[in-house]
Amino acid sequence: MTHILGSKRDFLDWNDEDAMEFLEIIKDIADHPEFRKLEQFTHHLHTNRYQHCLNVSWYTYLWAKKLGLNYKEAARGALLHDFFLYDYRSNPPIKGNHNEIHPIAAFTNAEKYFEVTDIMRDCILRHMWPNTSASPETREGYLVSVADKYCAGIEVGSKSYYAIYPVLKQIYEMIEEGLN
Ligand SMILES: [Fe+2]
Ligand SMILES: [Fe+2]
Repeated sequence: MTHILGSKRDFLDWNDEDAMEFLEIIKDIADHPEFRKLEQFTHHLHTNRYQHCLNVSWYTYLWAKKLGLNYKEAARGALLHDFFLYDYRSNPPIKGNHNEIHPIAAFTNAEKYFEVTDIMRDCILRHMWPNTSASPETREGYLVSVADKYCAGIEVGSKSYYAIYPVLKQIYEMIEEGLN
């Protein structure tokens, strides 16, 4: 478990009730040895795929809870959204559009190791929308799609945005505080 990228909050803050509930919801997946293999893959330049999935899951959890959605299944679906264990640039299992293929690979792995509900299935398979034509069928699925892009922006810019874009940092923190 690691720090939430782009956030003032920490997964391991025992005084943070959200963080403790979040850990309870996702810990069986996050601690699974097969899922932890995601730590081996660089993702969005400056982080690894495990951290990226945690980030997306955390923001999905917060937003879904705020909106009165099924935040538990949304958080678990979000955590599994990029559960594919290959380097898509050098070692894809099949040729084709990465945007289309990796959600299917993630869903296949998710079903192999964990129980996957219909909401989780939608969160995983449709998370690349609108980069793919098929849109989510659930509101939780839409949230994962948005959280994925939000986190990608933070992660890609994580080396520089605290130093070069203090205004951007302020905006991120305002968004987060608005959700609390
Ligand atoms: Fe993805
Ligand atoms: Fe992602």
